[in-house]
Amino acid sequence: MKFFIDTANLSQIKEAHELGVLDGVTTNPSLMAKEGITGHDNIINHYKAICEITDGDVSAEVIATTFDEMVAEGEALAALHPQIVVKLPMIKDGIKAAKYFSDKGIKTNVTLVFSAGQALLAAKAGATYVSPFLGRLDDISTDGLNLIQEIRLIYDNYGYETQILAASVRHAMHIVNCAKIGADVMTGPLSAMTALLKHPLTDNGLAQFLADHAAAQKA
Ligand code: E4P
Repeated sequence: MKFFIDTANLSQIKEAHELGVLDGVTTNPSLMAKEGITGHDNIINHYKAICEITDGDVSAEVIATTFDEMVAEGEALAALHPQIVVKLPMIKDGIKAAKYFSDKGIKTNVTLVFSAGQALLAAKAGATYVSPFLGRLDDISTDGLNLIQEIRLIYDNYGYETQILAASVRHAMHIVNCAKIGADVMTGPLSAMTALLKHPLTDNGLAQFLADHAAAQKA
């Protein structure tokens, strides 16, 4: 399973990259705003800076909501860097735009997916990635993992190549469960990735090994 980091924070992207486990980055307008990235030129430069850190795909979301505007904005984003993936909302014009970009060989990520039917449409439009939002479904007492399982079944039934990008991942067990279910990619915060490192028996075991080694040197 690929690991994408879901942030526009450059230092966190660098840290995940240096850990050696980063396969790509997803951003959205809220994440860009959180980092204080405003204005056309700053936004463009920020996407370029992200592409300098990672070798993987970088999802850049359009703000437009009509087909013509999405095409114009998406083409400009895709022209920035070969790693840019045009992120499109799961609405009628977003699906039309996904088909347009797919026919042109430009990668897309259809976002804000909350049902298997939406994921089926995204695959038929030739999206590179589909982003079901696991955490936001869990937030409203709906089983987000079940949605990912349904999408996996549908895509496998027909051999759709669209990659299931489990989004809105919040914690370590989301990552483990996405891997068990067969998501192609997960995108989440750095904290969820580093939480995978933790086990008290690892820490206790290492402390014991080092103590035994130190004692043996003194003997
Ligand atoms: C997906 O690409 C989104 O950026 C993201 O995963 C949303 O996560 P959130 O529900 O934690 O905001």
